[in-house]
Amino acid sequence: MTTLEHDAGPLVSLADYGQAARARLPERARAYIDGGAGDETSLADNLAAWNRLALAPRVLTGAGTADTAVTVLGRRRPHPVIIAPTAFAALAHPDGETAIARGADATATTICLSTLASTPPAALAAAVPDVSRWCQLYVFRDRGVTRELIATAEAHGFEALVLTADRPVLGVRGRERRHDVRPAAASKGPGAAVNLRAPADFSAQIDAALTWDDVAKLASQTALPVVVKGILSAHDARLACAHGAAAVVVSNHGGRQLDTVLSGADALPAVVDAVAGEIEVLVDGGIRRGTDVVKALALGARAVMVGRPVLWGLAIDGAAGVQRVLELLLDELATALVLTGAGAVGALGPDTVLPAPWARS
Ligand SMILES: Cc1cc2nc3c(=O)[nH]c(=O)nc-3n(C[C@H](O)[C@H](O)[C@H](O)COP(=O)(O)O)c2cc1C
Repeated sequence: MTTLEHDAGPLVSLADYGQAARARLPERARAYIDGGAGDETSLADNLAAWNRLALAPRVLTGAGTADTAVTVLGRRRPHPVIIAPTAFAALAHPDGETAIARGADATATTICLSTLASTPPAALAAAVPDVSRWCQLYVFRDRGVTRELIATAEAHGFEALVLTADRPVLGVRGRERRHDVRPAAASKGPGAAVNLRAPADFSAQIDAALTWDDVAKLASQTALPVVVKGILSAHDARLACAHGAAAVVVSNHGGRQLDTVLSGADALPAVVDAVAGEIEVLVDGGIRRGTDVVKALALGARAVMVGRPVLWGLAIDGAAGVQRVLELLLDELATALVLTGAGAVGALGPDTVLPAPWARS
């Protein structure tokens, strides 16, 4: 693995990439990528929550090498890291989602493409045909637009539809407001070469009044597994089971929607309990270390999604930067699997984590 340098020295962690990206990105792109909602309490807590968990390693288990393989939505994958859907990646780098997909392909990582991606699904599939890919859905009031998106995803090798449930309207995002970040403005932002397909006022186009019946309808209309993203309660997790979802993503949208909600890390155990193995549970928010991934898996997640760090890698070095960010995380994951004594993902369990003494108030 080559190690990039920047002013503060070599980039050896995801946080290093964050620092370097913040130094490089134009202010408006930085506000869009790194910002959160309200007082950014949930944004900060997404990171803090993983650190409130301690690891309880076992020694002399004979686990000298790591086996990171997992099964997600019925497919065997070499590791449990998935790239979260993030809109307008061209704000971070002109090659946008195509570069993200190349970095994903190089590390056998699944990419979940946003409805609001700078690169349309068919173009992404043509550019990086071998990448494992999921398609995130915002449901438009004009159901024709949504039907077309689903048909495109089905025709171009996307393996799952990820319905985002926690963005009926945009959260109150101070940093975006301060820097006048709107898709239309962002597309003209310095250094950005965004070719937006979505209408500039796409918020007005999104159906803000979706219900669980829409999830059931979607599940009945496609052969692809439907994943509901943005679940924070056991009750909603049960409803996802009852309405045909194949999985849920426990997520607070990277702290960008409703502030002062639970982090993915804190909401995860109740959701895992509630679904009782009926459907799969994924989690995102604040995953920055291999140890965070181990904690998520130990608490019952099948896989994790990673958002901002991928955009930081993209901003620093395009596809190669994305690849290096993912390699760093996967390398840390492998190390943590050996050092916890688990070796394989399947050997992780609730005993691997406990409330951290340093987090007691
Ligand atoms: C810049 C940015 C754009 C995002 N756009 C979308 C989106 O279009 N659809 C979606 O479901 N989630 C979106 N999200 C939320 C991510 O999918 C994910 O839930 C979140 O980033 C995970 O937290 P992390 O950034 O701390 O890893 C976005 C997040 C960021 C940072």
